[in-house]
Amino acid sequence: MKILITGSNGLLGQKIVYALKAKSGIEVMATARGQNRIRNQKGYQFKEMDIENCEQVFSVFDQFKPEVAIHTAAMTNVDACELNPEQCRKSNIEATRNLTEAAKKNNCHFIFLSTDFVFDGFEGPYDENAIPNPLSIYAGSKLEGEKIVRNSGLTWCIIRTIIIYGVTDDLQRSNIVLWVKNSLEQKKEIRVITDQYRSPTLAEDLAGACIKAALQKTTGIYHVSGNEILSIIQIAYKVADFFNLDKAYIIPVTTAELNQPARRPLKTGFFIHKAMRDLDYHPHSLDEGLALVARQLSERKTDS
Ligand SMILES: NC(=O)c1ccc[n+]([C@@H]2O[C@H](COP(=O)([O-])OP(=O)(O)OC[C@H]3O[C@@H](n4cnc5c(N)ncnc54)[C@H](OP(=O)(O)O)[C@@H]3O)[C@@H](O)[C@H]2O)c1
Repeated sequence: MKILITGSNGLLGQKIVYALKAKSGIEVMATARGQNRIRNQKGYQFKEMDIENCEQVFSVFDQFKPEVAIHTAAMTNVDACELNPEQCRKSNIEATRNLTEAAKKNNCHFIFLSTDFVFDGFEGPYDENAIPNPLSIYAGSKLEGEKIVRNSGLTWCIIRTIIIYGVTDDLQRSNIVLWVKNSLEQKKEIRVITDQYRSPTLAEDLAGACIKAALQKTTGIYHVSGNEILSIIQIAYKVADFFNLDKAYIIPVTTAELNQPARRPLKTGFFIHKAMRDLDYHPHSLDEGLALVARQLSERKTDS
């Protein structure tokens, strides 16, 4: 089976490439904007592909002819999207249209990564039938992306997820776990929200669900996240405890006090039964996920 991944330099993209290349009988095409930043460049193909560049997208699809595309690439910085809605529209809406059109020409099953932010957070946790009501430009753009995929005429699967954490090869982007760990190690104060609730998702777990959906050509909407609902500050405290760091540098703030550019849902979290049933999805607990992060960081130190 031939599988193409967009955004292969991203946190999820890297994990999918590593997990897929370890499987036999699969031809993997990793694609990203700019150079390949994955350390291990063996066992898969790589092509530069800016998803906003329609010509480049068609050229890569037409040459590789994927049977399945996993579309992870996106403008993921929620506040940057709020401040630059035009770029957000290009990255998350128009680019998704480019991809679905190229996929259609090649009769390709399409997997789209979406977000808990499509919900307004007043009635979380959510199942797949809950009605979206996005509160921000980013959230609206991901919901638009979902609609493009659903109306594309392709066979499709939408996988919605919630704050992804893990270790990437290049560490170019941070995530909640690395941000808290690095800040506390440097004895830097961080202001952490007390009144927003999420289910942190281990990147490896999510990658596994995406791969299962690809191999089975699963169709429909799936909610895929960790199975604990915690406030953001509880997540930060757990990180501090796990790595034995001083919690005094964590300054509690409310959503109102932090006053970020983009509005966020207060309480999300997902019911994940459907993914457990159909995608063989059994997420690690946050403590187990943190143990994996710690192991990977220490292996990296040994390597370099
Ligand atoms: N991260 C979360 O907590 C979270 C939560 C819910 C849903 N999601 C969704 O899950 C998916 C994966 O998230 P992630 O954490 O892996 O995000 P990420 O680490 O920010 O990776 C996104 C990747 O998309 C790439 N990208 C952006 N614009 C592009 C373009 N025009 N052409 C090609 N590549 C482009 C970025 O490239 P560069 O590296 O070159 O910038 C980056 O590598 C996204 O669709 C996101 O919306 C994420």
